[in-house]
Amino acid sequence: MAENSFFTDKVALVTGSSRGIGRAIALAFAGAGADVVVNHSKPDGASKRKADEVCREIEELGRKALAVPADIASKASVGEMVEAVSSWRGRLDFLVLNAAKAPFKPIEKLLEREIRQLVETNYMGNIFCIQKSLPLLEAAGGRIVFISSLGSRFYNPSYPLGSMKAAMEAVVRDCTESLAERGVFANGVCGGIVKTDSFKTLRQYMEELEHIPDELCVSPQALAEVVVFLCSPAARGIRGQTVVVDNGLSNRLYRPAWVRKPKS
Ligand SMILES: NC(=O)c1ccc[n+]([C@@H]2O[C@H](COP(=O)([O-])OP(=O)(O)OC[C@H]3O[C@@H](n4cnc5c(N)ncnc54)[C@H](OP(=O)(O)O)[C@@H]3O)[C@@H](O)[C@H]2O)c1
Repeated sequence: MAENSFFTDKVALVTGSSRGIGRAIALAFAGAGADVVVNHSKPDGASKRKADEVCREIEELGRKALAVPADIASKASVGEMVEAVSSWRGRLDFLVLNAAKAPFKPIEKLLEREIRQLVETNYMGNIFCIQKSLPLLEAAGGRIVFISSLGSRFYNPSYPLGSMKAAMEAVVRDCTESLAERGVFANGVCGGIVKTDSFKTLRQYMEELEHIPDELCVSPQALAEVVVFLCSPAARGIRGQTVVVDNGLSNRLYRPAWVRKPKS
């Protein structure tokens, strides 16, 4: 993402940015000129190592970075994360709700603890992040961007997360209205197939994903650039929307393009 003076000295908090799409979003904000808070789930092990690595990459771009471990499913933990952001830079301009964790199995097979984890991380956790960040976002005239997926609108037998994504897209619409008078606006980015760690796991449950050609997958960077765009003044007229970024995959679902190739 090209540097843009609008982002200089501003602060982005990206939940779940130790790897995958979140990492790309964190780096895109840094590329645009913002300082970044890299949230990850655990205070040690691979989670911390990867978050520290992302912070180093951000610093190499000439920006400041702070790694903050916090499980977004815990309201107390989210509160501590936002306090850490406040003591670090005293401001928060952009909140990106990217972190997600869910089992890949049909709804009817979900155990009670899996249902609770699904809702606590992917719905309640995002709402805790919005609630706790609101005073800082309001002071900055901030923006919220939620990362959704095609599961919010299309059936996928092993993807109960889709129902949480659909609920959160409704929260985006709700928030952009209810927070407008406080100067805070929300939008979403709905990603197609992105070959991250979670994709590798989902692929084990859905063989058909193997057959989706590379040109119908989308890169983490392509999603990240739209997130940064939605936080920029150029997107000031977009409110409460979830923008699909999927390299055209959903537009072709009626007629699987990987089965019938168009004549060249
Ligand atoms: N991959 C796709 O095809 C795709 C498509 C569309 C949308 N999306 C969405 O994009 C987002 C990122 O997906 P991804 O594929 O990049 O995922 P990923 O590779 O599995 O990475 C998940 C990230 O979220 C963090 N995380 C998980 N649970 C957390 C929690 N309770 N609290 C804080 N952080 C937590 C992880 O931190 P640790 O490193 O500490 O575990 C990691 O940084 C998700 O919302 C996903 O639904 C993905």
